[in-house]
Amino acid sequence: MQSGVLSHASRQVFATMRASRIFLGATVVVSVVLLSLAFVDRWFRVPSAVTRAPAGSRFLFPAGEEQRTPGRTPDTQPGTLAGPKEGRTAQEDHHNAEKVQRDRKAVLERVCNVSLPGFVPPLSTWQLGHIIVDDQHKMLYCFVPKVACTNWKRVMIKLRHPEIEKPQDISPRDAHETYVLPSLKRYSPEAVQYRLDNYFKFMFVRDPMERLLSAYINKFTMPYNLKFHRLYGTKIISRFRENPSNYSLQRGDDVMFKEFVKYLLDPKAHGPQLNEHWDHYVNLCHPCRIHYDVIGKYETLDQDVDYVLQKAGVADIVQFPPKPKKAQTSTSQLLDEYLEEIGHKEVLRLHNMYILDYLMFNYSLPNFPGER
Ligand SMILES: *[C@@H]1O[C@H](CO)[C@@H](O)[C@H](O)[C@H]1NC(C)=O
Ligand SMILES: *[C@@H]1O[C@H](CO)[C@@H](O)[C@H](O)[C@H]1NC(C)=O
Ligand SMILES: *[C@@H]1O[C@H](CO)[C@@H](O)[C@H](O)[C@H]1NC(C)=O
Repeated sequence: MQSGVLSHASRQVFATMRASRIFLGATVVVSVVLLSLAFVDRWFRVPSAVTRAPAGSRFLFPAGEEQRTPGRTPDTQPGTLAGPKEGRTAQEDHHNAEKVQRDRKAVLERVCNVSLPGFVPPLSTWQLGHIIVDDQHKMLYCFVPKVACTNWKRVMIKLRHPEIEKPQDISPRDAHETYVLPSLKRYSPEAVQYRLDNYFKFMFVRDPMERLLSAYINKFTMPYNLKFHRLYGTKIISRFRENPSNYSLQRGDDVMFKEFVKYLLDPKAHGPQLNEHWDHYVNLCHPCRIHYDVIGKYETLDQDVDYVLQKAGVADIVQFPPKPKKAQTSTSQLLDEYLEEIGHKEVLRLHNMYILDYLMFNYSLPNFPGER
């Protein structure tokens, strides 16, 4: 109904963005040259899973460089408790959320500490492509695909474009267009450091196995994800299916979960760089080196969303999209079924592969069906 007006506003926003994208195209040529230089950097990549900058150190520059920016004091934002005046209850919630955050950060720090090697190479800006920047509201959001990331991107777009009335007016496709939201990758090292030191930073995680299942369901069982079928599906089927049909080999659109798991567990099959939908949290967001103010969890999405919006000071200008009304079978309910299909041994190997994600964010191995 109102969507006529609303989507008109958002259509205009995106039309403008598309136009400027053509201009951006010209800069791609330049970037390719620069990238190929930066690529040299990759050869020295140390998995961030096992690296951690000592607390308080500057990780984009070697230690000893001048420190220009004062530290942020995230706990003293005025007006962060604005919202429905429920008095004590709201304050209690807030208090509880603070404690939850302290606990999450303590677990993370402990795991980071024990996986700390002697030498910590500085992070490069190309590793920061998942961190979305909002300079006006001084926010950094590290997006992890399959963890409420579409809705968070919608929120970040709405913050940049007040003329869009509601985040849910933005189509998922538009939300994921890479030119819509700038990432830290586009900034100079100095500008990156300034933002990391001074902005409000948050990320969201979920149970690693549930995330993998969610990625599988979305990328391999939905007819519209042709790109994934072609890029990954055909490869997975030809490598891991006995006597595949020509049809499956060509289309790659009927990958089974157990085949996807075999692919994940075979480093030769996927190479050193995992797709962002199943890459480790540590590679996407560098939580040992970037000290996030809030670590949200998909399992407590509602509370954590409220807390993030309050702490960021934007609770009164944007609302997180509401849950869809139709009841869906949740991924966590489906997980048991799928894990049974792949078998206990493979589940353990998968757990091993994502062990740091499990430990850092205090997730535990799923109860194995039949073993409760
Ligand atoms: C870690 O998770 C367990 C439940 O899985 C919970 O009992 C425990 O309190 C959590 N630890 C912290 C520090 O949050
Ligand atoms: C982690 O290491 C830092 C620096 O060595 C130390 O100050 C901190 O207490 C450690 N944290 C935990 C949870 O072990
Ligand atoms: C698949 O294609 C190959 C060559 O195109 C053909 O030789 C083979 O018989 C086909 N197999 C099936 C099961 O159709």
